[in-house]
Amino acid sequence: MEMTTTMHVGMLTGGGDCPGLNGVIRAVVRKGEAHFGDRFVGFRDGWRGLIEDRTMVLDVERCRGILPRGGTILGTSRTNPYRIDGGAEQALATVRRHGLDALVAIGGDDTLGVALRLGAAGVPVVGVPKTIDNDLSATEVTFGFHTAVQIATDAIDRLHTTAESHNRVIVCEVMGRHAGWIATYAGIAGGAAEVLVPEEPFDIEAVCDRLRARHAKGRFASIVVVAEGAMPSSGTLQVASAELDQFGHPRLGGIANFLAPEIERRTGFETRVTILGHVQRGGTPTAFDRVLATRFGVAAIDAVHDGAFGTMVALQAGDIVRVPLADAVAEPKTVDRGLLHEVAQWCLG
Ligand code: F6P
Repeated sequence: MEMTTTMHVGMLTGGGDCPGLNGVIRAVVRKGEAHFGDRFVGFRDGWRGLIEDRTMVLDVERCRGILPRGGTILGTSRTNPYRIDGGAEQALATVRRHGLDALVAIGGDDTLGVALRLGAAGVPVVGVPKTIDNDLSATEVTFGFHTAVQIATDAIDRLHTTAESHNRVIVCEVMGRHAGWIATYAGIAGGAAEVLVPEEPFDIEAVCDRLRARHAKGRFASIVVVAEGAMPSSGTLQVASAELDQFGHPRLGGIANFLAPEIERRTGFETRVTILGHVQRGGTPTAFDRVLATRFGVAAIDAVHDGAFGTMVALQAGDIVRVPLADAVAEPKTVDRGLLHEVAQWCLG
């Protein structure tokens, strides 16, 4: 049953930024203010803002014009209150000091994992899923993913013409730490020859064999799409180890720099590298992501007023639903093997 009491609601965005975050913030504030008469406070830079009590004004006026803008007006960080001495206690004290009736946390598995723990400690929290990697369980898709896939596909389209002009192999590295969703979608949409994902270690010699076979059939250019988290099967190729962030994730990027020279050495095909990096996360969200972000935002403020704390809004079978936060952070959602094998094997290249 909907509670129409006016509330004081805090909001933050955590983890890597993502096109569509501003759409969520705007929708929460618009429905909150206009329909429920809520007041909002924005916490700066993810959980760090809650720990340090750094806030910003958040109202309909402040949200004007932000729907098509990438990034997040609240700022973000990968700060983990549970990895900072007294961090969680300071965050709880901030919630009490502001007299918050609810906190809307917009983030991926790390941010929502913290939300779950703070929820257990008494914070009335509602989660909104966010990740361009699309690796969050319990929701079919997150905003930002569609934008990233479009950016990667546009890049692959461009790489095709230069690769064909020079008879080259081009290794295009995309984001995707634990899951190869961007690589798979952009690889299929862009007609890549190969898609390498973190879920399935690749054998460098098998990749080279397929490229040789392809070029023997008269093709002289190939695009290899590799997710940044893809790994060679053990003992087949030496790659660098990476430093860890506060959630224990390696800072990735650069597998293509190992892959490309090895492909060139083994096949003799001239090979180049393009690492798309943060270009995939920047800039304006697609229309699809703006709509999804807006639907999530409206659903999140409804969840707040229904007292549905400890839940996350999610997309399932086209509908916005509520799922327990615990379900969302339980397991990363890995690439659909049917898509990768049954669809891609006939359509790549
Ligand atoms: O948010 C997910 C992600 O985009 C990953 O794909 C990537 O590995 C990581 O963030 C990069 O993080 P940062 O911007 O902190 O280097």
